[in-house]
Amino acid sequence: MAGKKLYIETMGCQMNVLDSELVVGQLNGRGYTLTDEMTTADVVLLNTCSVRDHAEAKALSRLGSLKKPKLGNPDMIVGVIGCMAERDPDGITTKMPHVDLICGPGELNKIPAMIDEIEETRNRSISLSQSLSRRSTPIERAVEYDSVEALDLSRSAGIDGNPLQAYVRVQRGCDKFCTFCVVPFTRGAERSRPPQLIVDECRMLVDRGVREITLLGQTVNSYVNQDDGKPVRFAELLERIDAVSGLERLRFVTSYPGDFTDDILEAMRDLRTACEYLHLPVQSGSDAVLKRMRRQYTVGEYVDFVDKAREIVPGITLASDFIVGFCSETDDEHAESLALIERCQFKNIFVFKYSERPGTVAAKRITDDVPDDVKRRRNLEMLHVQEQIAIQANQNLIGQTMQILVEGYSKRAIKAQVAETERGQEIGSEVTGQLVGRTRTDRIVVFAGEMNLVGRLIDVRVKAATALTLHGEVTGSHDPSCGTGDLISINVS
Ligand code: SAH
Ligand code: F3S
Repeated sequence: MAGKKLYIETMGCQMNVLDSELVVGQLNGRGYTLTDEMTTADVVLLNTCSVRDHAEAKALSRLGSLKKPKLGNPDMIVGVIGCMAERDPDGITTKMPHVDLICGPGELNKIPAMIDEIEETRNRSISLSQSLSRRSTPIERAVEYDSVEALDLSRSAGIDGNPLQAYVRVQRGCDKFCTFCVVPFTRGAERSRPPQLIVDECRMLVDRGVREITLLGQTVNSYVNQDDGKPVRFAELLERIDAVSGLERLRFVTSYPGDFTDDILEAMRDLRTACEYLHLPVQSGSDAVLKRMRRQYTVGEYVDFVDKAREIVPGITLASDFIVGFCSETDDEHAESLALIERCQFKNIFVFKYSERPGTVAAKRITDDVPDDVKRRRNLEMLHVQEQIAIQANQNLIGQTMQILVEGYSKRAIKAQVAETERGQEIGSEVTGQLVGRTRTDRIVVFAGEMNLVGRLIDVRVKAATALTLHGEVTGSHDPSCGTGDLISINVS
């Protein structure tokens, strides 16, 4: 099998980015090398997202463009993995009969065997986790051995080839069943990984040079597993990971507003590595809409929590997700969301136009009746309100010095904070060609500097600010490798 080429394209969330890394790790071990050329690869895998229709349409269009290359090279293996594979295997095979492999997100450890089987039989291979049971409680499920766990331990370090930062899964699935969301169907029941496995994985990554770890789960704050028969919850997990020497920064996404206990905030305040940043999707500023979405909190509870987080964790920044144009959302309800954005002063928000997903409660029981142009207008209004808040907040930072971890010459960091609008893409393009780093509070700082700063913790003084980026100059380093506190001489544009 040596010398074969793998092309993999990843759509959607951080969980998919991690899943793709794990698949690449497995196939590397079997002699595959990565290629950027989709049409000449031996194996083409699309790691898909089902959260919005747009993402599925994009995956189908990519698959369509593979029809011809596959005709020219019938040995090419075309695979659909991830959420869309789990959600609609029949739709995929009907629309795209040239697909050879369909694998849900809970079955990715089977991919090498599936490829072997296809090579041998030339038959389509399908692996889904539809049987995942929700009958047991989360803690009972968590202690069952999950076969995909072994996969996480065989991984290589680093996100998107960046060796400093890594994602670590703490949880799979979701039990919340928000009425709009397809994730509980595609990723199955919530189960938390054993704490020791997570700590071991963090240790291994740090030994390989990783300095910042982001824990992943759909509702990380409801994490629960056990050790020696005693429950281990999220705050304790953070504490155990914090003890991994050499780790500099610990983040986690995403938290569910309903389950957030004070011990997690206290851990964020007290632990050396825990960064002062929280991604806490609220979805709407209207109680009536939250109820239709079956989010299990009120706007008042959310605001109280935001105030408490700011009180307990000084300097914390908050990010959120909003859905605009959810079933029957009125202008007044939308205005309530705008008011909530003003009230909470988020660092950034991700805004999504509601997209009806087959099989969800919303698709079955309520109507997607807000016209697309209204959704688009509300989307832009929200981004506009947020932009004013972010510009003001960032300009208030001018003159301050802050510690950043230098990530490289990357537009990825900026793109990650930009909602999916063309306007957002424009904002993101302003930083080409400069180094990018991030503060503990997840603010992006752009500055002029040499590549040898990548991977270092340095101090920058903020000189200018826009809504999404701070522009800074280097003032010092925290790393012994360049002399603690030494001033590195850098010309600032
Ligand atoms: N807990 C997960 C949610 C995954 S979906 C997390 O935050 O990572 C990510 C975001 O996509 C949600 O917070 C929501 O704002 C948005 N979203 C989910 N389903 C959607 C739908 N049907 N239409 C539009 N946006 C949606
Ligand atoms: Fe989706 Fe709600 Fe879970 S948004 S991932 S069902 S918390």
